[in-house]
Amino acid sequence: MPKILDGAAIAAAIKQEVAEEVKQLAAQGIRPGLAAVLVGNVAASEIYVRSKVQSCAELGIYSDLITPPETVTTEDMVDLIAALNDRDEIDGILIQLPLPAQVDTKALLDAVLPAKDVDGFHPVNAGRLQAGRPALAPCTPAGIIEILKRSGIPMAGQHAVVVGRSDLVGKPAAILLLYQNATVTICHSKTRDLGAITRQADILVAAIGRPGYIGPEMVKPGATIIDVGINRISTREEFDRFFAGNAKREAAFAKRGSTIVGDVHPKAFELAGAYTPVPGGVGLLTVAMLMANTVRAAKMRRGL
Ligand SMILES: NC(=O)c1ccc[n+]([C@@H]2O[C@H](COP(=O)([O-])OP(=O)(O)OC[C@H]3O[C@@H](n4cnc5c(N)ncnc54)[C@H](OP(=O)(O)O)[C@@H]3O)[C@@H](O)[C@H]2O)c1
Repeated sequence: MPKILDGAAIAAAIKQEVAEEVKQLAAQGIRPGLAAVLVGNVAASEIYVRSKVQSCAELGIYSDLITPPETVTTEDMVDLIAALNDRDEIDGILIQLPLPAQVDTKALLDAVLPAKDVDGFHPVNAGRLQAGRPALAPCTPAGIIEILKRSGIPMAGQHAVVVGRSDLVGKPAAILLLYQNATVTICHSKTRDLGAITRQADILVAAIGRPGYIGPEMVKPGATIIDVGINRISTREEFDRFFAGNAKREAAFAKRGSTIVGDVHPKAFELAGAYTPVPGGVGLLTVAMLMANTVRAAKMRRGL
């Protein structure tokens, strides 16, 4: 039976450690603070931001939720970020993506002070990470490493195949795996014969954004599979393709009219040695690592 890598338990352990650090900082009169910027009314973004703000409250981190309207301009957003850069009680600035089409996302991410860039998206932090200097690393890739480490999955000398090369997930995940001494291959949409490469993976990271794309024929038996994908499916045909005969999922689908599937087909998990479920895997780590980064930013800004 493959081992399920329990994102909830690992995220809870990290949050507990962060809460402990927050307490120690409080004894020195320091309270880490996070500003969360949520533009418009994208339902999924609202859910993500709510869970981030709630985690702050649980851990004793100050948070400020700022909600500009859907019609906001790049200029207004840059002014807002500049004001947050200046606020001393704010250690981390989170801009929930995606932003409306009229807003220049890259300009905004560049406007965040690198020292407050708790998402690790600023080019300065991306460069520092690449150069092996202390940096705020993007939360999802950092969470992947925590899952592997805390589950006792060896990385040194292992062949890690990362499918996806986004600046948010694939690329930084590959760099972090390299620092763990894995032998890393990065694949993307132009990769020829993807299955021939993924079948070589001891550790397979799927960050593609395509429901159930990695099938059982693409997996080496016994491999560790990290499924980063979060894809909502709402048709009966799609549901049956992934979850036919799964009573628990059937009940959830009937209730909500949709469900979530990762980038890996559930049948592929059956071959794995260990895997992260969707939901309940990597996604939970992203919030935990955001909390950890906020405390880290608070300490780094004060030279602690
Ligand atoms: N768990 C979490 O907390 C979390 C956080 C962030 C993202 N996600 C999820 O992770 C997934 C990836 O997110 P992302 O932001 O990295 O997405 P993205 O920016 O759209 O990047 C997707 C990557 O997958 C590659 N790709 C697309 N189709 C492919 C194919 N047929 N074969 C091989 N590679 C292919 C793309 O290649 P090209 O570069 O060649 O186009 C690209 O590099 C999404 O499902 C997203 O919802 C989860």
